[in-house]
Amino acid sequence: MRLIFFGPPGAGKGTQAKKVAEKLGIEHISTGDILREAVNKGNDLGKKVQVIIEKGELVPDEIMNELVKMKIKELNSFILDGYPRTLEQAKSLDKILKELNKPIDAVVLIDVSEEEVVKRISSRRVCPNCGRVYNLITLKPKNDEICDNCGTKIIQRKDDREDIVRERYKIYQKTTHPVIEFYRKNNTIITIDGSKDVEEVTKELFNMLGRFSQNDNN
Ligand code: AP5
Repeated sequence: MRLIFFGPPGAGKGTQAKKVAEKLGIEHISTGDILREAVNKGNDLGKKVQVIIEKGELVPDEIMNELVKMKIKELNSFILDGYPRTLEQAKSLDKILKELNKPIDAVVLIDVSEEEVVKRISSRRVCPNCGRVYNLITLKPKNDEICDNCGTKIIQRKDDREDIVRERYKIYQKTTHPVIEFYRKNNTIITIDGSKDVEEVTKELFNMLGRFSQNDNN
């Protein structure tokens, strides 16, 4: 199965994509995670994108398109999380997938309001070592601010400050959300209310995906 997870910052794309990818045994490609890893390593890509990410702006399309192309060439099934984010990226992905004869099965739109996003993201913490995501309100680590998985002190992402989050949300509304129209013509769009708690969203998501793949097999 090939899916795109779409939605504003903090909608829960990463949280839900990890669960679906694990259950279906498919690759989870998070462009945000790939970029942050490059920044942590301090490689050429990381040096180019660090300032852009920290300001909450979008990394140039040419960089993102090349990066995703390299990733999906070798894969048959995957979830794209955080890509495409512009019309140019959607067109580039469409071209690559046509060349590879790997059409997208569905686009999952997780919808959440700006105020909910700001609330969630300001309490998000991440492990700088293994990348596990926490939330100081809804998903606390067992020991105060220490990663359950690897014991490292969890931190706040630099782009998770309220002013930057609001800027990211503005960019999402202006540039990314309209991309959904590109998919409306030819793709199944599954819209999920992301404001419910994590388990409820997961349940609804699996229900919808199950119904969708049954119809697909008929
Ligand atoms: P990226 O990392 O993709 O950021 P994002 O899209 O803004 O998404 P987030 O990671 O903030 O949120 P999420 O929806 O995954 O939510 P999560 O599950 O973590 O990108 C970062 C930056 O990289 C961009 O700003 C840009 O600069 C650059 N970039 C990346 N891709 C790019 C592209 N294609 N083109 C150009 N630039 C690109 O959940 C958030 C929090 O809420 C967590 O604490 C979680 O525990 C909690 N939570 C999740 N679900 C729920 C729930 N249902 N109820 C309560 N709490 C919840």
